[in-house]
Amino acid sequence: MHTDFPIELITGIEQIDLQHMELIARIKMLHESYLNGTNTEKLVETFDYIRCYIDEHFATEEKYMTELNYPHNKRHIKAHREFTADYLNFEKFFKKDGLSSDFTLNFNVKLINWLKDHVFKEDIVLANFIREKEVYFKEKKL
Ligand SMILES: [Fe+2]
Ligand SMILES: [Fe+2]
Repeated sequence: MHTDFPIELITGIEQIDLQHMELIARIKMLHESYLNGTNTEKLVETFDYIRCYIDEHFATEEKYMTELNYPHNKRHIKAHREFTADYLNFEKFFKKDGLSSDFTLNFNVKLINWLKDHVFKEDIVLANFIREKEVYFKEKKL
């Protein structure tokens, strides 16, 4: 499992990496379920699961930001909120109109690209900051 996760997206913070892998794997699974003709009820369930998982993941990162006084927290949290809003729009659209092939393709591509882009630009910067702080705390024995 998760073998196709791109190595350049590894942040080095285990909890965050595992969550990223799970998120990307689940979004891909949602897309595959649709292609395999899974029923709408099951797809709605998967949609809900991913939404909860996104919330949980963002909360994990934001907890680090708050606890460590991360200097770029505003920018990073704003990006999280925008992603959640996009996801909710997709979900609303899906629940109203059902899935079309255009829809799933857009959904899959957009979410996965956003995640990869965000991980690459924001999460890795955050992870480096977390590691620096951890070294600092260890040296100071705090
Ligand atoms: Fe993030
Ligand atoms: Fe993240």
